Amino acid sequence: MKFFIDTANVELIRSYYELGIIDGVTTNPSLVSKEDGSFDDIIKEISSFVDGPISAEVIATDTIGMISQAEELAAINRNIVVKIPMTKEGIKAVNALSKKSIKTNVTLVFSPAQALLAAKVGAAYVSPFIGRLDDIGHHGMELIEQIRAIYDNYQFATEIIVASIRHPSHVIEAALNGADVATVPPEVIEKLFNHPLTDIGLAKFLEDWKLRFG
Ligand code: E4P
Repeated sequence: MKFFIDTANVELIRSYYELGIIDGVTTNPSLVSKEDGSFDDIIKEISSFVDGPISAEVIATDTIGMISQAEELAAINRNIVVKIPMTKEGIKAVNALSKKSIKTNVTLVFSPAQALLAAKVGAAYVSPFIGRLDDIGHHGMELIEQIRAIYDNYQFATEIIVASIRHPSHVIEAALNGADVATVPPEVIEKLFNHPLTDIGLAKFLEDWKLRFG
């Protein structure tokens, strides 16, 4: 399973990217609005060192506007993937962009039907938001199981990005359910490294070494 980092903070992206565990980046308008600098500059800077897909989202809500913004974003770098919201207008835009070989990531997906529509028009990625489903009392991960089954039944090439990840168990369940990608916020990536027994074990190794060898 690939790991994308879900933030628009360039320094955080850089620090985790240097570890060699990050395959790509996802941003969204809320994440970008937390950072300094213009949208284009942020995306340009990320694409100057990340050699993997970088999702940047359109703000337009009509098909023509989405296509025009998508073309501008795609021109920034060859690895830009344009995030398009899961609406009727969005699906029309994804269909047109697929024909122009511009890669898209259909975002704000909350049902298997929406994921099926996105795949049918050639989305490169689909982003089901599982944490937001959990927040309203659903079991978000069931959506991943359903989309995986549907895509496998018909050999859709659309990759499933598990999005809106809240904790490490979401990452593990995403992998167990055969997701192609988990897009993980920095604070959850940090937690993936930690286990108290690792810390206790390392402290003991070093202590024993010091007692014997000084
Ligand atoms: C994914 O592409 C989105 O940026 C993100 O995962 C949304 O997560 P949230 O529900 O924590 O805002």
